[in-house]
Amino acid sequence: MLFETFTAGGCRSYVLGCTTSCAAILIDPELSLIDHYRGYLLQNGLTLRYIVDTHTHADHFSASRQLGEMMGAPVVMHRLAAAPYADLRLDDGDMLIAGALKLTAMHTPGHTRDSMCVVMADRVFTGDTLLIGGSGRTDLPSGDPHELYESLFDKLLRLPGETLVYPAHDYKGRSHSTLAEEIASNPRLQKTERSAFVAMMRDLDLAAPTHLTEALRTNMSGGKTVAELLAAAARGVPFMSMVELNGRLGDNCELVVIDLREKEAFEAGHIRGARHLPRGQLELRVNGELPDPTVRIITCCEFGKISILAAATLRELGYMRATALDGGVSAWRQAGYALELSP
Ligand SMILES: [Fe+2]
Repeated sequence: MLFETFTAGGCRSYVLGCTTSCAAILIDPELSLIDHYRGYLLQNGLTLRYIVDTHTHADHFSASRQLGEMMGAPVVMHRLAAAPYADLRLDDGDMLIAGALKLTAMHTPGHTRDSMCVVMADRVFTGDTLLIGGSGRTDLPSGDPHELYESLFDKLLRLPGETLVYPAHDYKGRSHSTLAEEIASNPRLQKTERSAFVAMMRDLDLAAPTHLTEALRTNMSGGKTVAELLAAAARGVPFMSMVELNGRLGDNCELVVIDLREKEAFEAGHIRGARHLPRGQLELRVNGELPDPTVRIITCCEFGKISILAAATLRELGYMRATALDGGVSAWRQAGYALELSP
């Protein structure tokens, strides 16, 4: 069997590969690692058969939907998962078979109601139900400390003590542990009495994870993150560097620099000769402002993000020479290039 761990920040994902059949299963993929997974699968001659999300993640962006579409593999989640893109919904005890790989779902609600651990021979992928030296929190949407107590003490911890534990997170660089080690030393598992365990979980008072609303929105709906939206737009437009643009500015400049910011920002300082066309009015005013679709346009905004979306929109509208400034007016200013004030 091939087995590889992938890390993004504190997030862990795993690829299991059957060397006989070349079938692979990917557990808890993270959005920023899509090309890494694809590279690993290609390098090892593996075909992705299943993509498993152990639960609806609130703290990282799942890559399941995108990988499922790219690689033609079904997205597997517990039947209670809200995600409309889950193709195969499992119940407690259901098994996935891919070549010699056999993975069994153990429904372990508590961190979320759709949490499941995935058991395979000598190991268990615990999602956020059990972490090394910790457990998932129970204060996020659909979390419940009573359910986590039952999932841990009445189910997961009844697996053999030597079972290897591979969690969905670890922030201290530990690759895995065993259930016996966790039972002996994990502080969350020392409260073996239900009311004490529940009280401990309720008293944790943890800060909300970064990107909570965006992660829940995208993971539950299959919608895009803002970064994905920008990346998709960026793939369809060229950029111009600040050095290049600065060198081309002048009396005979053939470029039309469009400043997409609001009026006050534009008046406070803009690139020489730039025309003001706020992003919010772009589509409404484009016919009047840019009658010639063959003109070479450079879009700019404050931070160099909205300008990408605007250049992509202009290209879609037929302005085939629309280009985005690499960087925004903020970077332009910081680099020491001149800004012009409105009269
Ligand atoms: Fe989680």
